[in-house]
Amino acid sequence: MARNPADSSPALSVRDLRKTYAGGVEALKGVSLDVAPGDFYALLGPNGAGKSTLIGIVSSLVNKTTGEVSVFGVDLARRRDAAMRLIGLVPQEINFNLFEKPFDILVNYAGFYGIPRAEAVVRAEQELRSAQLWDKAQVMSRTLSGGMKRRLMIARAMMTRPRLLILDEPTAGVDIEIRRGMWRTLREINAAGTTIILTTHYLEEAESLCRNLAIIDHGRIVEEGPMKTLLAKLDVEGFLLDIEGALPAALPVIPGVEVQAPDDHTLDVEMPRSMDLNRLFGSLDAAGIRVRSMRTKSNRLEELFVRMTGTPDAAAIAAAARESA
Ligand SMILES: Nc1ncnc2c1ncn2[C@@H]1O[C@H](COP(=O)(O)OP(=O)(O)OP(=O)(O)O)[C@@H](O)[C@H]1O
Ligand SMILES: [Mg+2]
Repeated sequence: MARNPADSSPALSVRDLRKTYAGGVEALKGVSLDVAPGDFYALLGPNGAGKSTLIGIVSSLVNKTTGEVSVFGVDLARRRDAAMRLIGLVPQEINFNLFEKPFDILVNYAGFYGIPRAEAVVRAEQELRSAQLWDKAQVMSRTLSGGMKRRLMIARAMMTRPRLLILDEPTAGVDIEIRRGMWRTLREINAAGTTIILTTHYLEEAESLCRNLAIIDHGRIVEEGPMKTLLAKLDVEGFLLDIEGALPAALPVIPGVEVQAPDDHTLDVEMPRSMDLNRLFGSLDAAGIRVRSMRTKSNRLEELFVRMTGTPDAAAIAAAARESA
């Protein structure tokens, strides 16, 4: 028997993908990436980076300009329907009929994919149960909470038993408790063998869920690889120090340390991770600066993100999310 090429192929392979929208916006400028089967992969990037465009092309909602995409070895251009059957998509916006019941939404969706009704009914119960929505199966979807609506979208995407589940900002605007519940659901789906790709603005989400990531900015991949490797590259650590009294006019000069004063009782310090904190405090002490308290400036993924894209907005969002946690 011929070996199935899908067995050894990446879950997603993208080669030199370009997209220029009518009107001239170059949303993707030659993106290449591979996602391994079974992976949990994050696509990060500031607003307008091209994430939804990439997802749109992979899920056949957007036409590419040039480049190649294959899903488990199935070429999207040549065998679109076969590739589509391998993918489940959870889009950025809620797009089910609010006047339908969750059970019917799932069964009808399966119908579009040619799944026999008897089978669809069985799957709908399974998926609603694992999304913790079984008790809501027969209510009007309009009455579901925001978090339940998101889970319903995931349950719907799982109806076709996709091998690759793609989620475009599944947790945007969702409070931290619901987000954590969704993380649990996604981890279970991934543990059961489904490859997952998600875009998110919450860096802590990517750090907590994903093994590999790509950072995309202005239509290009600016960083890609295992989360651990990327984080290990960061050798600089940032602190904010609250100073007792006012700072001296001239800030101390400490070799290897970058010191700034955002206001006259705060110091913003960046130093190599390998450097001893005692040296920092010794120098500050010698300059007559007394530190009242200190906090780390950002998490490491935020640092990486800001460094790669120069965009602090996502870092601010992540920080706000942590504070509300
Ligand atoms: N249908 C369209 N027509 C023209 N330009 C578009 C269209 N969709 C997206 N763009 C442009 O393409 C670029 C990439 O947009 P895209 O939606 O892919 O970004 P994104 O990374 O998903 O951003 P966000 O984080 O805000 O969702 C942006 O400049 C956007 O304005
Ligand atoms: Mg988007």
